[in-house]
Amino acid sequence: MADLDEVLADVRRGMIPAHIYNDAEIFRLEKERLFSRAWLFVAHESEIPQAGDYVVRRVLDDSFIISRDQSGEIHAMFNMCLHRGMQVCRAEQGNASHFRCPYHGWSYRNDGRIVGLPFHKEAYGGEAGFSKKGQTLLPAPAMDVYNGLIFISMDPEAPPLVDYLGDFAFYIDYYTKQSPSGIELRGPQRWRVKANWKIGAENFAGDMYHTPQTHTSVVEIGLFREPKAEKRKDGNTYWAGRGGGTTYKLPEGSLEERLRYIGYPDEMIKRMKDMWSDAQLEVVGRDGFMISAASAFPNMSFVHNWPKVEEDSDDVLPFISLRTWVPISEDETEVYSWFAVDKEAPEEFKDLSYKAYLMCFGSTGMFEQDDVENWVSLTSTAGGSMAKRLLLNSRMGMLKDDSPVVEALSPEQFAGPGVAHVGYGEYNQRHLLEEWAAHLEQGPVAVKSHQVGVGAEQEGTV
Ligand code: FES
Ligand SMILES: [Fe+2]
Repeated sequence: MADLDEVLADVRRGMIPAHIYNDAEIFRLEKERLFSRAWLFVAHESEIPQAGDYVVRRVLDDSFIISRDQSGEIHAMFNMCLHRGMQVCRAEQGNASHFRCPYHGWSYRNDGRIVGLPFHKEAYGGEAGFSKKGQTLLPAPAMDVYNGLIFISMDPEAPPLVDYLGDFAFYIDYYTKQSPSGIELRGPQRWRVKANWKIGAENFAGDMYHTPQTHTSVVEIGLFREPKAEKRKDGNTYWAGRGGGTTYKLPEGSLEERLRYIGYPDEMIKRMKDMWSDAQLEVVGRDGFMISAASAFPNMSFVHNWPKVEEDSDDVLPFISLRTWVPISEDETEVYSWFAVDKEAPEEFKDLSYKAYLMCFGSTGMFEQDDVENWVSLTSTAGGSMAKRLLLNSRMGMLKDDSPVVEALSPEQFAGPGVAHVGYGEYNQRHLLEEWAAHLEQGPVAVKSHQVGVGAEQEGTV
């Protein structure tokens, strides 16, 4: 690989060494320095509503059980038996008071505590030889929750999730806080694409430029009112804290009229008005921007859009989707994609919204298929020898002296936090890669190893 300092310096001036989208050494560094620190979304509380509910989620090379114990508390536990390392839970989701390891039968409560160890006395000499007390499946080094979204971090010293997200949390609320009850999820659908994980995250963060080209056919069949080139460039892209996204410009009108325009029924609008802050309401009602796709660094994305869902009608209906881009290797990504909807939404709205999601961004969604074809092709080309000689220009929105093509919106034009620009630009792709560069510059995270059944922890690094 080319010198890392040079790669990071190029990235920081908006010139991207093409090989970073398919490079084994870069991927090794991403695992060691980025995914070992960042907060990573794994599940939503609504996926495990009852005591005993659990889901199993992959985070790079690790498997975690996300469970709700009998007292309602949520746990994220490394899915590896403390005995000889078998995967304790092999199902993807379910409800269980206990997990029993298939290999030799050690069993654990759904909060991780060991409760059963066959022939404890004969084989280990009982508590004197192996103390079960205080032994649990290894918890994720850090876990935190925002609006029901459960994140884990491999860094026990990770800052609180809200500090990490920073002002991007302002925008997460539009997707996840439309009523006091929050959202419920369906899914996830999971599939793998032969594409580097960064490409999807960048695309969702700020690529309004691709819509009219890549998704021409979706525009042609009239599924949307907005994705046409001239409509998308009226929207803005914003970056705030550790995330950024895209918006559409809505037609003139009051807050209510604008929310009705994208298909929200009045009862949902009423609850949004109660839930959202003055600034959150101003972004829509005063400034006329509605959030669309977004990404939180490093690998979580959001979508909000409003296609036509019925053949003979011009009515549109909004849907929300959450997703993660879980890296498998430098050239493969597992996509987890959930449909999200306000828990208090009318049932008919939920059904139609689900349909809208599936048409657009489910595994067979029309947008999904268009996008992935580009990303697979990009990734495979980035793995060759010529890509190492190419610096891609990711400077859209900036002149040669780094000044902006269009000035950032003032607080009077856009009430949201962060920096926002109307029109096409690659501000957010650059922000995302700046975070990426800042992480890759750091050293490995220190780790403690937990010694099963014999006492104190050991320190070391990975
Ligand atoms: S590996 Fe789990 S009981 Fe032996
Ligand atoms: Fe797309």
